[in-house]
Amino acid sequence: MDLDASVDRSMDGKVALVTGGGQGLGYDIAHAFADQGARLVLTGRVQEKLDTRAAGLREAGAEVLALAGDVRFRATADDAVAKTLDAFGRIDVLVNNAQTLSMPVPLIEQDDTLMEGIIQSGLFGTIYFMQAAYPALCRQGGAVINLGSGQGIVGGWGTASYAAAKEGIRAVSKVAAREWGENGIKVNTICPGAWGESMDIWFEDKPEELEAMLAQSPLGRFADGYKDVGGLAVFLAGPDCFMTGQTFHIDGGQLMP
Ligand SMILES: NC(=O)c1ccc[n+]([C@@H]2O[C@H](COP(=O)([O-])OP(=O)(O)OC[C@H]3O[C@@H](n4cnc5c(N)ncnc54)[C@H](O)[C@@H]3O)[C@@H](O)[C@H]2O)c1
Repeated sequence: MDLDASVDRSMDGKVALVTGGGQGLGYDIAHAFADQGARLVLTGRVQEKLDTRAAGLREAGAEVLALAGDVRFRATADDAVAKTLDAFGRIDVLVNNAQTLSMPVPLIEQDDTLMEGIIQSGLFGTIYFMQAAYPALCRQGGAVINLGSGQGIVGGWGTASYAAAKEGIRAVSKVAAREWGENGIKVNTICPGAWGESMDIWFEDKPEELEAMLAQSPLGRFADGYKDVGGLAVFLAGPDCFMTGQTFHIDGGQLMP
C-alpha cells in the first residue's frame, strides 16, 4: 500500500485518533487520514492486529501509534489520550468507531451481557473518548466524528441494544456540537452503508437479504470504506466543513430519513 501522493494533504501536521482502527471501517478511515498527511493513533482490543496495521501505514510514510484497550472502560480513553499527547503533543480529530456487534436478537431475549457489551462499547466508549479528548481538542479546535447507524433510525429488527447505542451516540453528538462549537470543535455522525468484515458474518446465511438491501440503494452498491466513508470523514475534519451536529448517511441513498 502506498499513500496517494497526488492528493492535497489537508491533514498535514494534524493528529487523528481512531478507535477500533485495527480492521473494517476504522482502519479504512485511518488510512484515508494517513493519505492526507495526518499522524495517527489506532486503538482496538488486539495489540498484534493493530501493530500489523500500523506497520503497513508506517511503511507508506505515516507516523502511527498503536494502542490496545477496551473502549468500555474510561481508563482506556484516558490512557489513549495521555499517550497520544506524549507522542504527538496534540489531538485534532477523534473518530469514535469501535463498536461491539451481535447477530440479531429479538428485544425480549436481549440479556444484560449482550446489552452491556453493545451499549458500553458504543455509547459509553464514545462518551469516554470525547470527554478525555476534549481538553486537547479545545487547544486549537478540531473535529469529532462518531459512527451511528441506519439500524437505529429505522429500528432494525433484532437490533435493540445496537439501535439504542447508535441513537444515543447521535444524541450525544448533537449535544456536544451545541456545547463545543464555541471551542471550535465540530461534532458530526456518519451512518455508513458500507461493506465491512462484520457484514460477511451478518449476511452469511441470507444472500436474499443482501440482494434486497442492495436493491434499495439508488446507487446500487455499498459505500467503499476508504474512498467514500474515509473521504467523508476527512472532509468533516477539514477546514472547509461548516457543518456540526449533523448526521451523514453515506449509503448510496438507501436511507432518506
Ligand atoms: N459497515 C457498515 O456499513 C456499518 C453500518 C452502520 C454502522 N457501522 C458502524 O461503523 C463502525 C465500524 O463498523 P465495521 O463494519 O467496520 O465493523 P467491525 O466489526 O469490522 O469494526 C468494529 C471495530 O470495533 C472494535 N471493537 C469492538 N468492541 C470493542 C471494544 N469493546 N473495545 C475496543 N474496540 C472494540 C472491533 O475490534 C473492530 O475493530 C461501527 O461503529 C459500526 O457500528 C458500520
